[in-house]
Amino acid sequence: MTKPDWQNYFDQKAATHGASVKASDYYDEASFFMQRDNILRWIGDLSGARILDAGCGVGAFSEPLAAANTVHGVDFSARSLEYAAARGLETHVGDLAALPFAAGFFDLVLCIGVIQLIDDHRPVLRELARVTKPGGTVLVQTLHRVSLQRQLLAFFEKSHKFDKMYAMDELAADFAACGLGSLEFLKLYHPFRFAVTGGAGEAGDFLCTSFALKGRKERG
Ligand SMILES: C[S@@+](CC[C@H](N)C(=O)[O-])C[C@H]1O[C@@H](n2cnc3c(N)ncnc32)[C@H](O)[C@@H]1O
Repeated sequence: MTKPDWQNYFDQKAATHGASVKASDYYDEASFFMQRDNILRWIGDLSGARILDAGCGVGAFSEPLAAANTVHGVDFSARSLEYAAARGLETHVGDLAALPFAAGFFDLVLCIGVIQLIDDHRPVLRELARVTKPGGTVLVQTLHRVSLQRQLLAFFEKSHKFDKMYAMDELAADFAACGLGSLEFLKLYHPFRFAVTGGAGEAGDFLCTSFALKGRKERG
């Protein structure tokens, strides 16, 4: 789908599902919480940080962080942002390829379940790195192309809505090109509901359905 199609799609989803994670296209609450709980545990406790939730949708992912930190949410679905604001995020309607923040503004930048919707993710990744302060962290979660389950789903899925997926080493190379180092993966396994840290290209990766990659913005 094109960019305006996605914008319209998520506006419609929010109009239908309201604050529910279904508005952000999660299959169900269990798969959302499995993912959120594991990623937030991996990030660890944070307080007083300035955080960007890039493509925040209805804000359900970063809601727990908003209690002790300042969380800004950017999304092109104005309808979704109404719910994100009610969850305590400072919201901005906009495109992730042109973020309305100064360089080095954030301690942590999250981008969860978004880059598989974007034709060319590299300008977006550069923007995420730009607004992160030196020593700060960029964390991106997306669909794993090598996954057996994903390949089967893609084969049977008629709409081809989520055709874009990523290999771990490919995204790691894109992170490095944006000046992000000390890379770490969190591999998520649906429907088995567990997550492990590790490197790219390990045995068992063919069952990993999605993964998160985090990297530290290098200083200077
Ligand atoms: C699958 S939802 C995920 C929402 C949220 N990150 C979560 O995990 O709950 C993807 C979100 O990204 C937003 N999005 C996609 N491409 C975007 C772009 N180029 N600029 C701004 N928002 C975008 C959509 O509007 C949608 O709300």
